[in-house]
Amino acid sequence: MAMSEAPIGIFDSGIGGVTTLDACRRLLFNEDFIYIADERFAPYGDKPEEFIVGRVFACARRLADMGAKAVVIACNTATNAGAGRLRTAFPLPVVGLEPAVKPAYEAYTGGRAVLPCTPATAASAKFRTLLSRFGGYNLTVLPLARLAGLIEKNIENPDVLEPYIREIFSPYPDLSQIILGCTHYVFLRGMLERIFGGRVKIFDGNDGAAKRLKLLLQARNLLSPRPSVGRVEFLT
Ligand code: DGL
Repeated sequence: MAMSEAPIGIFDSGIGGVTTLDACRRLLFNEDFIYIADERFAPYGDKPEEFIVGRVFACARRLADMGAKAVVIACNTATNAGAGRLRTAFPLPVVGLEPAVKPAYEAYTGGRAVLPCTPATAASAKFRTLLSRFGGYNLTVLPLARLAGLIEKNIENPDVLEPYIREIFSPYPDLSQIILGCTHYVFLRGMLERIFGGRVKIFDGNDGAAKRLKLLLQARNLLSPRPSVGRVEFLT
């Protein structure tokens, strides 16, 4: 089998990365994917950085061993902790997930941007460096220790989380943008749009990651030549 026909590996601590997978499949419908939900070690967001780096390498190696042609880290927490180190040590193209601060900054017209994320992301040096590029932006980072787990637990009916979500954002009457800093939170996009109507714009990094994946594959002649819809294999 030609390398271009190999699957793309993608992983998250759990189901959050399925939202990234969706964005990737919309752009690259004819690619096969192997998705790992690293549930045994979830959540990542309250773990020390070295632990998360260990999971990044373990998942990426497992995907490479299964024949993946590229790896998508469908998790902001894992990207912030380990994408840089993985890229220098790993032979395959690596795509990470970053909070969509740049697109939000470019669309900013006033008010306050709030960026909910895991505590590990909030504390990471990579994330702090990203933020430092946008001086003068009225942006509040909101580390949330429980939300990814709550979404995971209530995925069949995320609407039960609405009172908690309203409470999280209630201290910000000037809210104008929400930047979803964790792939799990993208499952709440519909609810957030309903709660805030058109007055708050919502951003996530999934489309940016999907575009980056396409560019990297293109540059290395690794895009699938098949005309048919690709398959997804889900693993834990
Ligand atoms: N989905 C992950 C992210 O994008 C975090 C979830 C977790 O804490 O494991 O940050």
